[in-house]
Amino acid sequence: MVIHYPEALYRLAIETGQAPNKVCSWTYNSNNKRQHRDVAYFGVTPDFRQVTQPYKNPTDKRVKALIAAGKTGAALYDWWNINQVKNTSAEKTAHPCQMPVEVMKNIVGILPEGYTILDLFMGSGTTGVACKELGRDFIGCELDTEYYEIAKERLL
Ligand SMILES: C[S@@+](CC[C@H](N)C(=O)[O-])C[C@H]1O[C@@H](n2cnc3c(N)ncnc32)[C@H](O)[C@@H]1O
Repeated sequence: MVIHYPEALYRLAIETGQAPNKVCSWTYNSNNKRQHRDVAYFGVTPDFRQVTQPYKNPTDKRVKALIAAGKTGAALYDWWNINQVKNTSAEKTAHPCQMPVEVMKNIVGILPEGYTILDLFMGSGTTGVACKELGRDFIGCELDTEYYEIAKERLL
């Protein structure tokens, strides 16, 4: 799975000759014209029912019946409006381009069970944090020792 700007993902698909099985969008408010990134799943098909989100219309008769039957929410959509990590965010570390845990939990959460998640550029370890919270196996690599220590701190 790759997260990037859409143009880069199109290039990747052309260069590798492989189309993604599924693409999701992560949208966010920012001060520049870039307001979304895409998440492309190559060679694996995500299952959106594995991650639930609150029902939009909990007072609807049919939704009320679902809640009464024990359903906790609707299956995740293929676009996620989640704020970027800001300096004031509770999860902020010293890493300058930290991903939100919620985005990584969506990305990992809809993958089939049983995979080991490998993040070769883990930075502050957000992918690992998501895996830990979801009970998924995780391997991470990081070149910068300061960021590696931050990741270790978040994961141990
Ligand atoms: C975009 S950041 C990842 C941020 C991460 N997703 C997070 O939430 O903190 C990319 C990271 O890759 C690391 N990196 C770059 N080249 C690397 C390499 N060859 N091997 C391992 N890590 C590398 C950088 O030091 C940087 O921390």
